Order: sequence, then structure tokens, then C-alpha cells
Amino acid sequence: MRILIKHLLAATEPREAVTVKGWVRTRRDAKGFSFLALNDGSCAANVQVVVDAGTPGAEQLPQFTTGASAEIEGRLVPSPAAGQKWELRATRVALIGAADATYPLQKKGHTPEFLRTIAHLRPRSNLFGAMFRLRSRLAFAVHQFFQERDFVYVHTPIITASDCEGAGEMFRVTVLPGNRDEPARGDFFGKPAFLTVSGQLEGETFACALSNIYTFGPTFRAENSNTARHAAEFWMIEPEMAFCDLAGDMDLGEEFIQAMARYALEHCAEDLELFAQRVDRHLLARLQFVVERPFVRVSYTDAIRILQQSGRAFEFPVHYGHNLQSEHERFLTEEHFQSPATVFNYPREIKPFYMRLNDDGRTVTAMDVLVPGIGEVIGGAQREERLEQLRANMAFHRLNPEDYWWYTDLRRYGTVPHAGFGAGFERLLMFLTGMPNIRDVIPFARTPGNAEF
Ligand code: 4AD
Ligand code: MG
Repeated sequence: MRILIKHLLAATEPREAVTVKGWVRTRRDAKGFSFLALNDGSCAANVQVVVDAGTPGAEQLPQFTTGASAEIEGRLVPSPAAGQKWELRATRVALIGAADATYPLQKKGHTPEFLRTIAHLRPRSNLFGAMFRLRSRLAFAVHQFFQERDFVYVHTPIITASDCEGAGEMFRVTVLPGNRDEPARGDFFGKPAFLTVSGQLEGETFACALSNIYTFGPTFRAENSNTARHAAEFWMIEPEMAFCDLAGDMDLGEEFIQAMARYALEHCAEDLELFAQRVDRHLLARLQFVVERPFVRVSYTDAIRILQQSGRAFEFPVHYGHNLQSEHERFLTEEHFQSPATVFNYPREIKPFYMRLNDDGRTVTAMDVLVPGIGEVIGGAQREERLEQLRANMAFHRLNPEDYWWYTDLRRYGTVPHAGFGAGFERLLMFLTGMPNIRDVIPFARTPGNAEF
């Protein structure tokens, strides 16, 4: 039976008759025997295979080139070589699939930019193998975090008729002409429908029944911003809590980021080590710092004052009433506070209709969690739970209340203070790995002008 290389290399004593399957990373021929480095993606490490010339199957060795797939049977024995505990002495080798010299991952040290052009093969590189193992484990950690806290996982719809963020950045879902083989026959859903930008509004309905819920799924934004932090398709985690205010929301957001950093340090150490070596040598220290220290909290008004008094010439000028740009967010976390920071109470003009109006009549109970290197990873708020004020907010943002009748109903029947946030899963992974581009933390990036693979 096949054993994964990760389990093989974790052995505590020699083993007879094991079978591994994987892809050849390198082959080195010596007099009378060859060395193969075999990787199956179960861990960063390769297993070194020693194949004597007389081994059954060894006549195929010339075809064991980089990228070829192979099956090896052998004995696990202590390795005399430095830097590895075990090696596999082959008793039989078999080629599964050859790879010729056009295989693009021949040399070490390809750039992430080049690897993006071969996204179908990049998981076979060390760096992207590590990335996608880590992504998988962190997805599990997200569920564990919320399940342990009695949050109920809700599958909010991907197709929706409402624009939660009110930014008009939605992809239309339609079977009108132009779609593959469909004849024109009006809007399938009887009204304009879109890919969701957020599961929040539907999430709120479940929080107002099950108390604490979360969503974790794909979201879509047709914003035409070709930056290193924006993708047209990304995954978002959206908890929503009934009987919770802004302070409780900030507590959960900060605790969540800290828990994810702690999980990565504890459970993905080998893969993180690779990112520390190859991408960001301060990575482990930064994650440790985030786990140990409380986040700074600062109101939007104070943040604006800090930015204005910084003496910095920002590309985007700092004005009260404007959104914080990425350069502003990064100045706050990387230079001013040198710590993650949670900014709260933003002007109502720049935030969506669903946020609760503060008593000052000018600001809403918004909060963004900013981290060094990325800027915003979390955006959230306490929601407007007062029926009349919600209607006023809709009027303020020029929304048609009829489109939100079911959302408004939550305020008519047993309304409660409630709050939640959205955490961008890719932004979180960028933070945890130091990878500077969102295209390199998602298996197949969808960005303006690019839907290859
Ligand atoms: O701040 P946003 O727009 O908030 C919402 O969508 C709320 N409805 C969430 C809620 O309260 N339930 O988005 C939340 C997070 C951002 O902080 C960011 O991390 C991520 O989603 N995000 C993106 N990530 C990648 N590419 C994009 N284009 C993103 N837009 C937002
Ligand atoms: Mg936001």
C-alpha cells in the first residue's frame, strides 16, 4: 500500500517494503547507482531514493527525469547523508508518466511572476506546495475557531439580487443572449441577479435566529482595481453575532487574527519556515508579535489626525470624509503604531447603509482591522437595528426600501443589537505567509483581464 512521504519521513524506526508514489524533482547518476529526489506534495521535503543499477525497473531510469511520475518500492533506512534522517533503498522502481525536457519547472528559483503563467503546474513547486497546504489547513482552522465558539456555519447564496456593499461592483448573472447556447428569454430569476459581494445580509437573518453564525465562501467583485490586494473572486469569512455591539465585534476580529497566526505557527511550522526563507525573513517574528500583543484601537477621526500630522507626502491626500487608502493604512500599522490596528467610527458617507448611526449623527459603528504589510484584512460593523433609523439610512444612501423588505423585517420582528465582520481569506493568507501579491495565495486568480485556467 502506498504511504505518503510525510508519514514515511516521520518514521521512528527503519521499515521494510514500503511503496511511495510521486514526481521526480531531480535525478543524479553515480557509478552503479542513482539518486532520485521524489516529492508527492504531502510535505515540503523530498524523500531521497537510492536505486542500484541492478534494481528491477532500473533500465527505465533515463526516463526518470524532472517532472516524471514514478512508483518506488523499497526499504526505509537511516541515511548516511547530512541533513536527512532517512532514505529509501529501492527494491523496485516503475515509471508512471514520463515528462520530457519541455517540463517548465526544470530549474530552482523561478519567480512567482513566471509561476503564475503556469498556474496548472505551480503547486508542484516548493513555494506553492507550501502555500496550498497552508491554505487548506487555515481553512480548517477557520471552521475550528468558529465551531469551538458555538457559531453555526451558514451557506449563504452565491446568486443574489441585493448589492450588500452598495458599491455597484457586481457581476450580472443572466441567460440573456451572449451566453453560450441559450436563446434570449428574459431574466431567469424574474429580476436582475448578480454574484454576491458578501453574504452578510442573509447572514444577519440567521444570526437573528441562531444567535452566532458564520459564512465562509466565495465572493465576487467587479471592481476594476488591478492591485496586489484585490481579486475579482475571493473567499470571505463573515461571522455575525446577535446581542453584540461594536466593542464585541472588534474583540472577535482581533481574536480571530491572533488565533489564525497562532494556528499557523503551531501547525504549519515547516511551510512557514519556507516563506521565512524565501519571501519575508521577518515573518515569524511578526506573527509571534501579533499573537502576543493586543491590537491598537484608534477612531477614524484620530487616525486622520495622525496621518495629517505625520508630515508625509502621501500620493492620496488625507481628508476627513475620504476613505483610508492602502498607503495610509500601511503607514498607521507599519510606521506609526508598528502593530496591527483597529480603526473604528467612520463617517457615514463612506460606509454602507447597514451600519449603525452613532449618537453624533456623523459617524457609524464601522471597524476595519489593519495589519502590517497588507492594510485592511477585516471590515465590519455593528448593524443598524432600529427600524426608523434603518429606513433613514436607506434614504441617505438612495436605496429603495422595497428591495430590502426582508432585511427590514428583521427590525420589525424582535430586533436585537447585532454585529459582524468580513475577513478576506486571501488577505489573511498574505499576512500569514508574507506573500505580497494576492494572485499567489489563491489557486487560480481571477483579476481584470485574466481568467486563464
Ligand atoms: O470591507 P468589506 O467590503 O466588507 C463587507 O463586505 C462586509 N459586508 C463584511 C461584513 O461585515 N460581513 O470586505 C471585507 C473584507 C475586506 O476587509 C478584505 O479583507 C476582503 O474582504 N476584500 C477583498 N479581498 C480580496 N479582493 C477584493 N477585491 C476584496 N474586497 C474585499
Ligand atoms: Mg472594507
